Amino acid sequence: MIQSKYSLLFFLFMHLQLIGSGAAAQVITSRGTHGNYLTIQLGSALGAVFGIFVARGVSGAHLNPVYSLSLCVLGRHPWRKLPLYSLSHLVGAFLGAATVYLQYYDAIQAFSGGELLVAGPNATAGIFCSYPADHLSFWGGLVDQVVATALFLLCCVALEDQQNGPLPDGLHPVLVGALILTMGVSMGSNCGFPLNPARDLGPRLFTFVAGWGEEVFKAGGGWWWVPIVAPFVGGLLGTLTYEVLIEAHHQTTPQSPQQELEEVQLRLILRKTEVN
Ligand SMILES: *[C@@H]1O[C@H](CO)[C@@H](O)[C@H](O)[C@H]1NC(C)=O
Repeated sequence: MIQSKYSLLFFLFMHLQLIGSGAAAQVITSRGTHGNYLTIQLGSALGAVFGIFVARGVSGAHLNPVYSLSLCVLGRHPWRKLPLYSLSHLVGAFLGAATVYLQYYDAIQAFSGGELLVAGPNATAGIFCSYPADHLSFWGGLVDQVVATALFLLCCVALEDQQNGPLPDGLHPVLVGALILTMGVSMGSNCGFPLNPARDLGPRLFTFVAGWGEEVFKAGGGWWWVPIVAPFVGGLLGTLTYEVLIEAHHQTTPQSPQQELEEVQLRLILRKTEVN
């Protein structure tokens, strides 16, 4: 059972990666004739929606190690599961990138005349993971990622909060997709809103071994670690902000001792009927 959970996470991540990166591959290799910035964002958002729909029954569809970490911090997910969850995210994203490359192999070769480049007009590495825009400084990128992920996680935690206007169950994945689209159209131009360490590092490792070479780690002044570290910092910040400013202020209706007693009795009766 546990193993099937992790393989599901693989699958799910491949799915997400496939749709998000596929949308980017389509736009880049067609030189903008089959889509634009907005279609890439729609692809990422809808990829997340379907990824969550596919997997939510089994894994709770974390999709993002930052989100898993937040749940651990809030005590809603066991810490011991965090490393394997993160690893399966990473492997899933790697395999997803490999699948996109396979599917777009001919297009990528034709686009750049067979060269796999990280920078310049014929660059294709940006299909798979994030690179900073030319204008972006190191600190600018760090701030961008911390702010974006903080906001992202704040909203994710809010969507999960049953005391904050409970949502119909099936709406949750759609709203996460809407959130990703929101981020994409408002915070995407600095470095493409990676927001997700596994979704960034997995495909970067793939491009490293697939022929783009060590330039994928050198580009942008060694940019690669920023989309790994900054989202964790931002994610924790966003989660704690929500906890302190919103969740801690939820009204808890105090129960009378009589009510508590009745509740315990009811639970005992229920358990007895379960046993029988
Ligand atoms: C980009 O690739 C095309 C082949 O699709 C090639 O003709 C062109 O010279 C390349 N441009 C640069 C700047 O490398």
